[in-house]
Amino acid sequence: MPSLSGTIVTPARRIQGRLRVPGDKSISHRYALLAAVAEGNSHLLNYASGADCQSTLSCLHRLGVDIRQDDDRTVTVLGRGFGRWLSSARPLDAGNSGSTMRMLAGLVAAQPFTTLMMGDDSLSRRPMQRVIEPLTRMGARIEATEGHAPLTVHGAPLKAIAHAPEVPSAQVKSAVLLAGLHAEGTTSVTEPAQTRDHTERALAAFGVTVVADGPRVSVTGGQRAAAQTLSVPGDFSSAAFWMVAAAALPGSRVEIDDVGLNPTRIGLVDVLRRFGARVEIREIGAAAGEPRGTIVVEGDRAGVVEISPGEVPGLIDELPAIAALAAHGGDISVRGAAELRTKESDRIAALVAGFRGLGIDADERADGFLIHGAGAPSGGVADARGDHRMAMAFAIAALAARSPSRIEGSDAVVISYPEFFETLDRLVA
Ligand code: S3P
Repeated sequence: MPSLSGTIVTPARRIQGRLRVPGDKSISHRYALLAAVAEGNSHLLNYASGADCQSTLSCLHRLGVDIRQDDDRTVTVLGRGFGRWLSSARPLDAGNSGSTMRMLAGLVAAQPFTTLMMGDDSLSRRPMQRVIEPLTRMGARIEATEGHAPLTVHGAPLKAIAHAPEVPSAQVKSAVLLAGLHAEGTTSVTEPAQTRDHTERALAAFGVTVVADGPRVSVTGGQRAAAQTLSVPGDFSSAAFWMVAAAALPGSRVEIDDVGLNPTRIGLVDVLRRFGARVEIREIGAAAGEPRGTIVVEGDRAGVVEISPGEVPGLIDELPAIAALAAHGGDISVRGAAELRTKESDRIAALVAGFRGLGIDADERADGFLIHGAGAPSGGVADARGDHRMAMAFAIAALAARSPSRIEGSDAVVISYPEFFETLDRLVA
């Protein structure tokens, strides 16, 4: 039920239903970027419906790439080949999307022109030095304000580097590999921990050879990407909210079809099982190297779960949802997740403040949080602070409360899951 400020969430005893979720955000960005680099028309089916992936398309459009969209979520990218991108007189606006700014920076760094990239207030607070440093070493010149957007990227002929980032980040890995595709020599990235490997799989799907050797992945410059027709699986990170709601509310059952099951993304499955839920994964097949299938979750009982630092990269975007798991009873303890402070909001501070607003016992750690769910909370008001995943986590937590709650800033869900509240209404009905 939308209200003047935010959305009211009414308590629910259980959720039930069968559904699909929007196309994967991470994969959609990558397919759009690679289709724009390729020569010829690529058709991207089930492209993500959220605003972030639209930001990628609008930035590419400003660089002279023609894009057509129809309402069944198929995007056609008329790739003109990397060498025929045009300089944009106006800044590229990445909106709220860190993926757009960081990954596209890797591509415009190799163009023979200057590109100005900007974003909203949240994106302008997020760390960009992590892409500026390697791209500068490759030969680009990038101006920023103390490591923050807006970025002025002076493109240049690039040379390969071996990059070993200190913080695991798929966006940084991807920016360097995409720059490496247009650099002289072989570029490698060695990560301190495995992050999502969608870029590696997407490059291969577009016909580019990528070599993975343990924690090191490399690409040789000068290869051509070939246009493709590709279908994007449902977004596991969007499915996560329903998986958690079903796990937390005994007697619930959700069946989610056609979800991406990339092994670098599904750490949540193990967490839910440790918590006491029944989780069934039916892998149906794979397309473009991305496994996909059906997920069934049934709630049973509340448990105590500790998330260790080593698990964090495989469930980084699901940590807000995981926090909501404990709102319904049980304990969740998270460590080694300081990166949460650099996301669309400071997710540690926002989570703890929002949960307390809903009457849930929550404590901050420098690198994580502790949620103690003791019976049904009072309900109350939680502010999403402009962050899509906060809005959805608070909505799921609020289902457990004794009275209705208000989620301020709930419209942030447009970033990754515009249909979230309609789907919530359907599943609790
Ligand atoms: C993403 C990588 C992760 C993740 C983000 C999407 C991606 O960020 O949190 O939502 O698509 O590569 P980092 O690369 O900053 O870890």
